[in-house]
Amino acid sequence: MDRPDTTQQYRINIAIDGPAGAGKSSVARLVANQLSYIYVDTGSMYRAVTWYMLKQGIEPEMVDEVLHHTLNMVIELIPGVDGQKVLVDGEDVTYYIRTNQVNGIVSRYAQIEGLRNHMVQLQRQMALRKGVVMDGRDIGTTVLPDAEVKIFMTATVKERALRRFNELSEAEQTTLQQLERDIAQRDSLDEQREISPLRCADDAIVLDTTHMEINQVVDRIVSYCRRSQRDGESV
Ligand code: DC
Repeated sequence: MDRPDTTQQYRINIAIDGPAGAGKSSVARLVANQLSYIYVDTGSMYRAVTWYMLKQGIEPEMVDEVLHHTLNMVIELIPGVDGQKVLVDGEDVTYYIRTNQVNGIVSRYAQIEGLRNHMVQLQRQMALRKGVVMDGRDIGTTVLPDAEVKIFMTATVKERALRRFNELSEAEQTTLQQLERDIAQRDSLDEQREISPLRCADDAIVLDTTHMEINQVVDRIVSYCRRSQRDGESV
């Protein structure tokens, strides 16, 4: 049986960044469960915008239109037993934001400065009351630079491609080599964009998970969080 948690008085924020496929979202969700915190998947917000723009036929180059619609859409992240639901203007788009069509183009919308600024504002509001585990690319550097615990999760391209390959359904036919190429391409787009590129914060703890099981990663992060909650300071 889990021991009662006596460290909840001091609430903290936890930032988890890293490249695509490093396992951030599974880990962040489990860490949030263990701490009874709220999990915020910021990638799903960029995906929700992308889904909307594709539906409206608004291309990434049409920056003014992208911004106009982004400022007027309502994105809701709803925690649930089987993961986080994503709603756009009340419509459940959880399934649609993970399709190959969205995967292939989301990085291009995520480069738009005004769109990023708006997302950062929304994400900061979600974390105002603390008790949030937020994952993304720029959380420790830009969104929550004061987060008490910052983790930068990595794994080799080969390992990330293999993990993704093992999760594929029969319908999603591709090769391991193709996945490696896709992941390497997304890494370079995320690392090289001008606004808030993927970068490890100077004060983040780097966790290379290539040879770690998911529960080891979660335990390690939860222990950093407990320490920060106990000490009332950043680790
Ligand atoms: O984590 P993900 O694969 O769901 O992210 C989707 C895209 O959004 C990916 O291209 C990176 C981008 N992203 C970002 O630029 N900043 C974030 N905080 C989260 C995701």
